[in-house]
Amino acid sequence: MTDRIRFILNGEDVVLGDVGPTETLLDFLRLRRRLVGTKEGCAEGDCGACTVLVGRLVDGKLAYETVNACIRFLGSLNATHIVTVEHLAAKDGSLHPVQQAMVDCHGSQCGFCTPGFVMSLYGLWLTSERPSRAKIERALQGNLCRCTGYEPIVKAAEQVGAIRPSALFDPLERERGEISAKLFAMQGGDTIVISKGEQRLIIPGTVAALADVLAEEPNATVVAGATDVGLWVTKQMRELNPVVFINHLSELQRITVTEDGITIGAGVSYAAAFDVLRQEIPALGRLITRIGGQQVRNMGTIGGNIANGSPIGDMPPALIALGAGLTLRSVEGPRTLPLQDYFIAYGKQDRREGEFVESIFVPRPEDGQHFQVYKISKRRDEDISALCGAFLLGLDQDNRVETIHIAFGGMAATPKRAREVEAALYGKPWTEATVTEVRDAFDRDFTPLTDWRATAEYRSLTAKNLLTRFFLETSGNPQELKRFALEEA
Ligand SMILES: Cc1cc2nc3c(=O)[nH]c(=O)nc-3n(C[C@H](O)[C@H](O)[C@H](O)COP(=O)(O)OP(=O)(O)OC[C@H]3O[C@@H](n4cnc5c(N)ncnc54)[C@H](O)[C@@H]3O)c2cc1C
Ligand code: FES
Ligand code: FES
Repeated sequence: MTDRIRFILNGEDVVLGDVGPTETLLDFLRLRRRLVGTKEGCAEGDCGACTVLVGRLVDGKLAYETVNACIRFLGSLNATHIVTVEHLAAKDGSLHPVQQAMVDCHGSQCGFCTPGFVMSLYGLWLTSERPSRAKIERALQGNLCRCTGYEPIVKAAEQVGAIRPSALFDPLERERGEISAKLFAMQGGDTIVISKGEQRLIIPGTVAALADVLAEEPNATVVAGATDVGLWVTKQMRELNPVVFINHLSELQRITVTEDGITIGAGVSYAAAFDVLRQEIPALGRLITRIGGQQVRNMGTIGGNIANGSPIGDMPPALIALGAGLTLRSVEGPRTLPLQDYFIAYGKQDRREGEFVESIFVPRPEDGQHFQVYKISKRRDEDISALCGAFLLGLDQDNRVETIHIAFGGMAATPKRAREVEAALYGKPWTEATVTEVRDAFDRDFTPLTDWRATAEYRSLTAKNLLTRFFLETSGNPQELKRFALEEA
């Protein structure tokens, strides 16, 4: 066991034993290191002004991703390379090509958002040659600018996308070998425990150690990506003690595809799952592009989306409709249950003392089955669902409903199946008349609330209309299918 974390900050090796469990990376950078290029705009992961890069070894290779420093806890950064905007320009002051592109394309006006945009563009540039417009927009979803109108920033991304990283002008390219070796040396299976006054943070070295820690500390707060927990601290001013970080545990970050389906480790981020899910179950890939911005998708995990038990999390309705199973683990061993049974009531989940979420198994829809998920929110990007509906449909050879799973978020205190609607559909012909006939069954399944995202009436009507939309999309109406194809692009 050790009582220090180690990381590299730009070009400096840092060893810290003085870290609070909920000290944010942003506070560390700005207050302790005076690296004030990283800005605080919203302190909740929305605006991207605090964007920095975090590099870590993934399967032995150094990979960098953008994160929101405002909600990322410092204690979760052991064995990483933190790169802030101050690291980009050369020692003689000449700008990095990403910065130069922002100047050339007039991508900055008041400048407050600029360091965050530069870091997001840098993250994109490191991984993508000549990115498509859609890819650029996805990379910038989590950055807000109230001055420029975005077009000049997109142009900057296009301009710099033609230049490839080279050790001549890119610090990360130059340092790659050295940083990789240092990060490798920092990795180890030891559990780290850091105490600061009464407060403690724990970084278990392995999943087995995590189970031991939670057996001893069942009330500890587990933190994966911190995209929910971070806001408990920055917005609700909650004090959490002790905190157990799990975002570094590679055993929880595996994603395995078999003939039956996909097993997703609880620590797999949205970004890490994106390519596999887009390939295997395209509707899940599309859904992921609607969750947060790129920084949130880099940090946030599918396991965290489930574990938090929120009635408006986007993944649970989709995964419930697909018939997903959940595996929890404790020192007693694993326990598996259908995901839909995990959500008992508002704020109450079937998670026993000392258990953590280990993985999710997602069955692949059978050949000929249709699966779709619809997220309804006021904005397309960076918004929480008013409601989210998922549909899995199988028809027999007479076009009658043989399989139908419908699950909604935002319609009840938990993510929930529409059992009455399903019962009304079974065995019926899949026609507009049937879909119209069963609409009222939604009112027996759900009594939604009115809140700032939508009224109860809006939610009820929209849920019914989504069934109609699903019908139109699955019954070959060419106009509807064309619209759908456009949305996918
Ligand atoms: C700007 C922004 C936009 C967002 N947009 C969306 C959105 O569009 N749709 C959406 O659904 N969500 C959204 N979220 C919420 C959040 O990103 C997701 O819920 C995310 O999946 C949480 O995962 P995490 O790893 O960050 O969880 P954390 O914040 O680390 O943890 C969340 C909860 O789960 C628990 N937990 C985490 N992992 C485990 C585990 N393995 N075992 C047991 N308990 C665990 C934690 O103790 C905590 O209670 C957004 C958040 C932000 C900040
Ligand atoms: S300060 Fe707005 S995302 Fe971090
Ligand atoms: S340049 Fe002013 S907020 Fe973007």
